[in-house]
Amino acid sequence: MEKIEQKIKKIEEEVKQQIQIINDLKQLEALRIKYLGRKGELTNILRSLKDLSLEQRKIIGPKAQQLKQELDKLISLKKEDLEKRNLIPKIDLTKPGKRLKLGHLHPLTLVEQKMRQIFSGMNFSVVDGPELENEYYNFDALNFPPNHPAREMQDTFWIKQEKTSNSKQNFLLRTHTSPVQVRFMEKYNPPFQIIVPGKVFRNEAIDAGHEINFYQLEGLVVGKNINLANFKFIIEEFFNKFFKGEKIEFRYRPSYFPFVEPGLEVIIKYQGRWFEIAGAGMVHKHVFEYAHYNPKEFQGFAFGMGIDRLAMIKYKIPDIRLFYSGDLRFINQF
Ligand code: DAH
Repeated sequence: MEKIEQKIKKIEEEVKQQIQIINDLKQLEALRIKYLGRKGELTNILRSLKDLSLEQRKIIGPKAQQLKQELDKLISLKKEDLEKRNLIPKIDLTKPGKRLKLGHLHPLTLVEQKMRQIFSGMNFSVVDGPELENEYYNFDALNFPPNHPAREMQDTFWIKQEKTSNSKQNFLLRTHTSPVQVRFMEKYNPPFQIIVPGKVFRNEAIDAGHEINFYQLEGLVVGKNINLANFKFIIEEFFNKFFKGEKIEFRYRPSYFPFVEPGLEVIIKYQGRWFEIAGAGMVHKHVFEYAHYNPKEFQGFAFGMGIDRLAMIKYKIPDIRLFYSGDLRFINQF
């Protein structure tokens, strides 16, 4: 009788040990058959109970029964566990990966980066300023007369507020990148050469050539003995690099911008057509005075151009609205 009890104990130990390392349903079924099948080791013991004396049966019977129940339960739990694991798709780590589709830069970003790169190569620093500007930096400090039409509601997006007599407290969306000129000069002393790429806003009727927001790049060079010949060199160097491999012709035409004197327009001939491409001039002495520079001590030139416009010429884009349309048929060509 001790022998049977030992057997029961051994079965319990064996099953509990083996079930732990089993990892598929086939092995589990083999284990079940070995111990609990029709000719299984525990089944045999249960079947032989009837040959034992009543006394022995009373001791061994419950033990064997209890073990059977316990093992049944263990096996069915294990079965559930294995079935669940089978639901998780197997990953073949040796398979070659799928190439992820990467996005790409917007044409305006590409052109702006190219412009930054060329000017950085000529030792310009890149500076930025706020898109929400005030009347002082956008107009006053740039020598715009009080009644200049650019200050009107029709041309400028003003923030809804009572107009105050302090122009630093009248806010608007900047209409050009030029306000960064005085902002920068208030903080730094010459000599310096900076560019300011950025977004600007105009209260415009939208058409193929006009948007309510677009991008500009401003340039400002201040130091001693700076003159328009320096500007001519820089701007021609820039366009020859920007349209590398193409022959570019240049024309300079007198023009008026309140913050420069003299003022001029740059016109380039590219692929047989003339384009007005930039405004420029020598920094007006009033602008230096707003910045608390001595106009007798320093000179400088400033220039401004449209990034959208350059991109349109470079890529032959007929309509500025395409840049902001989010139309993938357009965007994916770059
Ligand atoms: N701010 C002018 C505009 O938006 C462009 C411009 C003209 C900038 C002449 C300049 C400049 O720095 O000297 O139309």
